[in-house]
Amino acid sequence: MKHYAVFGHPVAHSLSPRIHASFGRDAGIAIDYQAIDAGPDDFARLLAEFAARGGAGANVTLPLKEAALALCADVTERARRAGAANTLVRNGDDWHGDNTDGEGLVRDLTGRHGLDLRARRTLLIGAGGAARGVAPALLDAGIGDLYIVNRTPSRSDALADLLGQPGRVHPRHLGDIGSLGEFELVVNATSAARSDGLPTLPRSLVGRRMAAVDLNYGEAAVPFLAWGRASGAYAVVDGLGMLVEQAALSFARWHGTAPETDAIYGELRAEHAHLVTAD
Ligand code: ATR
Repeated sequence: MKHYAVFGHPVAHSLSPRIHASFGRDAGIAIDYQAIDAGPDDFARLLAEFAARGGAGANVTLPLKEAALALCADVTERARRAGAANTLVRNGDDWHGDNTDGEGLVRDLTGRHGLDLRARRTLLIGAGGAARGVAPALLDAGIGDLYIVNRTPSRSDALADLLGQPGRVHPRHLGDIGSLGEFELVVNATSAARSDGLPTLPRSLVGRRMAAVDLNYGEAAVPFLAWGRASGAYAVVDGLGMLVEQAALSFARWHGTAPETDAIYGELRAEHAHLVTAD
């Protein structure tokens, strides 16, 4: 049996082992998929030990996605553009890196939630690893102008530079958020709800048929989605579907078959229903 794992810290509550086990059962593939707790200091060593034990593939989550990219011998174009890898494939003595987060988000929004992203004037709040992971895929999906605001302006400037589309991507100060006009898509890519709380988001951001999307799920998504709902957003979406879709894309890379995602999504959604996080 081939071995797979998710690396991160903290990782004990990761849903990935359960999602991959479910995909494996449906596909008739026996899968050994573990969660391995690794911090920045011991990630490289633990990943090498995993490879020595026959590790064939790994998912990487917070706070290791940038470090994972650096440990790969080669990476896909989308991982390079995101500056981060969430999916590693063992290739001989090397790791090959990919990033399925952005495509996972776009699939969830367009497929599961039926949103047409094309030409949507978009606000991305945050410029850390999560924002970097999804921004290229949103642009590729055909959104309109992309405004990026971040508490630390140098990071939104750096992300805009990395994306390389100056006519379309506009870094702005978080303090100027009230003067940016209306948006049709607002994406929360901050971890603010897990620390000091969301920055204040003015009602003036809310455009007609606006979708409010949080890359977080569970408790961490509650404040932003409550804002979206209270502001009259047309669609309110948390990161649970993105989690399932990025896992499905990793699974397809490793096993050569694309899993069906609705069953496990429905199961996880039912368990999160008490949080009332998404429509
Ligand atoms: P991740 O990989 O989850 O994006 P990260 O790289 O640490 O993690 O980035 C966290 C993001 O949440 C950043 O955009 C961060 O803003 P800074 O770059 O200024 O640190 C944002 N963030 C975290 N806590 C925040 C808060 N209380 N208010 C506003 N933004 C916050």
